Amino acid sequence: SQPLRLGIAGLGTVGTGVVKIVRQKAALLEARSGRPIAISAVSARTRAKDRGVSLDSYAWEDDPVALATRDDVDVFVELMGGSDGPAKAAVEAALKAGKDVVTANKALLAHHGQALAELAEASGSVLRFEAAVAGGIPVIKALTEGLAGNEIIRVMGVMNGTCNYILTRMEDGGLTYDEAFAEADALGYLEADPTLDVGGIDAGHKLSLLAAIAFGTQVSFSGVELEGIGEVTIDDIRQAADMGFRIKLLGVSRMTGRGLEQSMAPCLVPASSPLGQLSGGTNMVVIEGDQVGQIVMRGAGAGEGPTASAVMGDVMDVARGLRVSTFGQSASKLVPAVAAKATTP
Ligand code: NAP
Ligand code: HSE
Repeated sequence: SQPLRLGIAGLGTVGTGVVKIVRQKAALLEARSGRPIAISAVSARTRAKDRGVSLDSYAWEDDPVALATRDDVDVFVELMGGSDGPAKAAVEAALKAGKDVVTANKALLAHHGQALAELAEASGSVLRFEAAVAGGIPVIKALTEGLAGNEIIRVMGVMNGTCNYILTRMEDGGLTYDEAFAEADALGYLEADPTLDVGGIDAGHKLSLLAAIAFGTQVSFSGVELEGIGEVTIDDIRQAADMGFRIKLLGVSRMTGRGLEQSMAPCLVPASSPLGQLSGGTNMVVIEGDQVGQIVMRGAGAGEGPTASAVMGDVMDVARGLRVSTFGQSASKLVPAVAAKATTP
């Protein structure tokens, strides 16, 4: 059968992880999808960089737009990052050319998700972004597929590995903020602009995507009430611990009679609760459905392997011919979100 041919733009933490999976698990991927998964071409800023994996058998493009529109690319895999600039230009070009797109770029989707979903629909392409929310946890798949028979009541969780890593290493490891931050960097957790992480913006991007999928609205990042962990001190963490609590950057979204509530802010959670027990780069997403009740998903929220795992899940769905629409329903049916002030979780 015909191979599914990938063009991968971005060969950093996530892109390298994806290349490794495609190379190392070729037989497994083919057995599971029914067709070979091949890489036609790759792109990054600097060609002459040792990335710990051989790229010799792939064509190289300096320009991600050229990569995205190559004739030998079926799926454009965007792993560069950034809400605008080359990532947006290349994803738009790919969709206009009728390519399917898989991306991990939550910033891009939080700002342009509706327009890109409409573009994908108009071109008959799919735009998939499992890796954009909660790293290795397949939460978008859960919402759009397994829970499709539910009305969602609430989604909440810890969705930024960097913040959870810093907060827990300061408490459990006795590290300073700067030491914990450096460790998170070494683990590949940080965004290219880490103020997105510690400012709560990255987690807010993710919450806005989950809320759109859960409640059938257009993505509304501007409707997220945001506060990062920059003001959390070691004294705050110790005082919370003395009272039996932990501080978590917690996101909560629900649809109310007044509109869509979305908040992302440091919160006290009981130390003995599942959320309180989360350490390191782990994420947790809690979904409440009217039929299923509460579902708790926990796993690695960042880093090479977990994020590449989610990207490959999307690639495999495309290889299997699954054409589930981006936000779980037609982009044209998504209604504008009316923001409502969040009440306590
Ligand atoms: P990264 O390590 O910084 O890698 C970014 C890659 O994109 C690099 O290979 C870089 O090239 C390339 N790149 C950047 N700007 C470019 C441009 N203008 N033209 C061509 N190539 C360009 O980033 P990452 O951590 O892999 O993250 C990639 C995406 O995944 C981002 O959207 C991020 O938000 C998302 N994500 C990351 C994680 C994670 O744990 N890291 C988890 C979930 C989602 P050079 O290598 O030559 O500099
Ligand atoms: N910077 C992000 C985090 C990567 O720390 O969670 C995963 O989206």
